Amino acid sequence: MNRRISMVSIAAATLLLSGCGGENSYTPVAGSAPDVVFAEACQGCHGVEGAGKFGFLFKLNGTDKSVEELVAKIRSGGPIMPAFVGLDAATAEGIATYMKTLPAAK
Ligand code: HEC
Repeated sequence: MNRRISMVSIAAATLLLSGCGGENSYTPVAGSAPDVVFAEACQGCHGVEGAGKFGFLFKLNGTDKSVEELVAKIRSGGPIMPAFVGLDAATAEGIATYMKTLPAAK
C-alpha cells in the first residue's frame, strides 16, 4: 500500500517538474503577428488577451512592466512559467509591445 502511494507521488512530482518552468521550444510561423503568437503561446496560461485565468490569476493586461522587462520574462521564464527559447528577441519584443496595448479590463 505504501508502495502504491509513493508511485503516485513520483508520478505527480514528474508531472509537476515537466509541466512547470523549464523551456518551451514553441516557434511561430515566420511573419506571424504578435497577437497570433500570443494566442498560440501564452493564452493557454494567461487567458484571452491576457485577461487571466480563474479570475485575476496570471492576468497580464494593463501591465506596468516595461517592454524590456516583458521581453526578459518571455525569454527567461519564471519559477513556473517556461522560458520561450524558440522566440527570438524581435518576436519577444513584438509580443511585449502587443501586451502593452491590451486594455486593463477588470
Ligand atoms: C505554462 C503556463 C504559461 C505559459 C505558456 C506562459 N506563461 Fe507567463 N507566467 C506563467 C506563470 C505561472 C507566471 C507567474 C509565475 C512565474 O513567473 O513563473 C507567469 C508570469 C508572466 C509574466 C510576469 C507577470 C507579472 O506581472 O509579473 C509575464 C510578463 C508573462 N508571464 C508573459 C507571458 C508571455 C508573453 C507568454 C507567451 C510567450 C507566457 N507568459 C506564457 C505561466 C505561463
